[in-house]
Amino acid sequence: MAPPTPSAPVGSIGVALLGLGVVGRGVFEALRDNAAIYATRSGRPIAVRGVAVHDLTRARDGVDQALLTNDPRALAVRDDIDIVVELMGGMEPAAACIEAALAAGKSVVTANKEVMAKRGPELLALAQQNGVALLYEASVGGGIPIIAPLNRDLQANEIRSLQAIINGTTNFMLTAMAQDGLSYDAALAEAQRRGYAEADPSSDVGGVDAAYKLAILASLAFHTTVHPDDVYREGITQLSARDFRFAADLGYVIRLLAVAQRDTDGALDVRVHPTLLDAHDPLARVDGVLNAVAVEGDLLGRAIFEGEGAGSRPTTSAVVADLLHLVSSGPASRGPASRGAASNHPPESPPRQPPTDPPPAQFASRGALHMRYYLRVLVRDRPGVIAEIGRAFATNNISIASLLQVEADAVAGTAELIITTHHARESDIDRFMATAGMLDAVQDVGIRIRIGSASAGSRP
Ligand SMILES: NC(=O)c1ccc[n+]([C@@H]2O[C@H](COP(=O)([O-])OP(=O)(O)OC[C@H]3O[C@@H](n4cnc5c(N)ncnc54)[C@H](OP(=O)(O)O)[C@@H]3O)[C@@H](O)[C@H]2O)c1
Repeated sequence: MAPPTPSAPVGSIGVALLGLGVVGRGVFEALRDNAAIYATRSGRPIAVRGVAVHDLTRARDGVDQALLTNDPRALAVRDDIDIVVELMGGMEPAAACIEAALAAGKSVVTANKEVMAKRGPELLALAQQNGVALLYEASVGGGIPIIAPLNRDLQANEIRSLQAIINGTTNFMLTAMAQDGLSYDAALAEAQRRGYAEADPSSDVGGVDAAYKLAILASLAFHTTVHPDDVYREGITQLSARDFRFAADLGYVIRLLAVAQRDTDGALDVRVHPTLLDAHDPLARVDGVLNAVAVEGDLLGRAIFEGEGAGSRPTTSAVVADLLHLVSSGPASRGPASRGAASNHPPESPPRQPPTDPPPAQFASRGALHMRYYLRVLVRDRPGVIAEIGRAFATNNISIASLLQVEADAVAGTAELIITTHHARESDIDRFMATAGMLDAVQDVGIRIRIGSASAGSRP
């Protein structure tokens, strides 16, 4: 472990940076390059007193070797550290470091959505027990302010719904598939080439990353605890270039939408899945790697927070904002590092934290969802098919809004039907999908995509 650097300015706030990757490097450089401005704004100089990395043998440009350690946990609890900034990512050792820091009376800033989604409530309670704060603005939406607004500025509202595009990788891919006609594989390859998608993209394309972020947002917006496992999730892997063409013909854009809303009976509906959005919906115009969160409150109506949802500089903006907030709010730790150095600002109340023991949520059953649907069904191209399909819909209480026969294949003797429905129960759609394959007319049941609207799905 590296010893504390003796050159730290007197009266400064001691920061441990756990991670010096895409975000950690951005934060390190911002704190170095803007040191004087941040000291004025927060009332105290901020000194990075240690930096944890995985690989100590790699050269770290512009970083004093004496600051480096590969023991993040030991650094996090060191006496000269007031605030721990966790930017390693993943569950462990990140969660253990955050826990140890909070238990040792240090405030923590993190960008870690996985830790906050899976263990946030417990860690926030630990922070409160220890009289310190755990801030996590950068864990959702990169640089977009959304956690602090939900925690503070929207408190007067009953939140009715939250609709979000919170995964830049998939939004880039969906935009490329729609606008450039790329296949799923070509869109993924392009996202990887540009550094937007990891070598293993499963967390992004499977909707896991979006589910983590939705769990964090929904817990705040609905004053409860939502675990990622509570989020119904479908990824984008089953979408084909054809769906984008048909959707555009019908006036829709496909987005991986994260939705949280409360039913009239109080149950919480939380889901991440591809959604057809009306091309005029503001969220349909959120292209490429941008993120957006639309919040609908009873007093405010609909507000949209939109911007860069990832990347070094936008994420640094959110991390450093949390850090400055902690520094200017008064003692950031209960340890010796904070002693003997008064802030230029009068002490403020600690940053707002969600209640530590929120009531458990009741989750809505997916079958009760009441939405419109887009279906693509491969049928045999022969007389009577439409009548047979129509009967199957009627049997399942589904009313057809539009039906289009496309791409008849004379050789195979098949045609594709693009069907949109009026509002239907998801359980009825599921039953149709499960049984349609048995119909003589149907060759392949294909795909169903939910059709969204400005105020998300309702129930009958
Ligand atoms: N990248 C973004 O645009 C973005 C946006 C929003 C939120 N976030 C979140 O920010 C966090 C960091 O992401 P990132 O993209 O900056 O990650 P990254 O580039 O992979 O960097 C991770 C850093 O943590 C260090 N590290 C990993 N495991 C460690 C261990 N066991 N001990 C010590 N150091 C360890 C790595 O050390 P080495 O340098 O030696 O490998 C590296 O410096 C994640 O939680 C991520 O979800 C990222």
